[in-house]
Amino acid sequence: MIIPGADTQAFAAALANATDERLGRVEYEQFADGEHVVRLPESVAGERAVVVASTVDSDAHVQVLQLQDAAREAGASEVVTVLPYMGYARQDEAFRPGEPVSSRAIARAISTGTDRVITVNPHEPSVCDFFDVPTAHVDAAGLLADPLPDALEGPLFLSPDEGAIDLAVTARDAYGEGETDYFEKDRDYDSGDIEITPSDADVAGRDVVLVDDIIATGSTMSESVEVLMNRDANRVFVTCVHPMLASNALTKLSAAGVEAVYGTDTLERAVSEVSAAPVVAAEL
Ligand code: R5P
Repeated sequence: MIIPGADTQAFAAALANATDERLGRVEYEQFADGEHVVRLPESVAGERAVVVASTVDSDAHVQVLQLQDAAREAGASEVVTVLPYMGYARQDEAFRPGEPVSSRAIARAISTGTDRVITVNPHEPSVCDFFDVPTAHVDAAGLLADPLPDALEGPLFLSPDEGAIDLAVTARDAYGEGETDYFEKDRDYDSGDIEITPSDADVAGRDVVLVDDIIATGSTMSESVEVLMNRDANRVFVTCVHPMLASNALTKLSAAGVEAVYGTDTLERAVSEVSAAPVVAAEL
């Protein structure tokens, strides 16, 4: 049975579809003091329970633990946890003295309630090593080509930093044509300000597809769009696996002159044009 977290219901339905497994109906309740409780009204005894929840905020983290525990309590024979988006994955080291390795702390907690974990494009694949149970990561970057128009003009698939170049290459391969390149990015740790150093790729008159794992505040992508527009790019499309789009990210992108923004449904947003469920289904 596929068991959805409250914030991941569309993804869970798509996964149930892709795997032909039963979609469980979950009741979510929040008490007056802010605490949550979940209920599984249908029996999962003797079945494999697949908890599907993007840990998009702290409440979602608690809910994953509750769903795992409810499935065990109800007699599930195996509990698999799918984290389409794994929150805190970017704090994968103690960047300053006194800080935690948050992704390790979260991974350990999630490991206590499951036999296996699957996640989609974690910021660094090495976070999978923090789990105490077998953990796989799958790549949804190829799907990012799906919503793009058919006839791009001299397409260039570009990542805003070197770390995401593999995603740009995968999206380009899926699209079927185009060049790839990457920018250099520096982020001021205190202010969060981004500085983009462009490559010397000639972008004038060309359609550029920016590809990254996540758009959070939108600073990385909007700075990149601005650089490209100043260099007379034709149209700039922004794509990512995890469209977090916190705060005014979409406004920043629009103001920078983006043609369109696309993401997958690991985070359910208006721009979630394509489902990453099939790649998870293949791993399941
Ligand atoms: C960092 O290396 C990531 O790949 C993203 O580029 C970054 O997290 C995006 O963050 P923001 O949208 O806040 O600039």
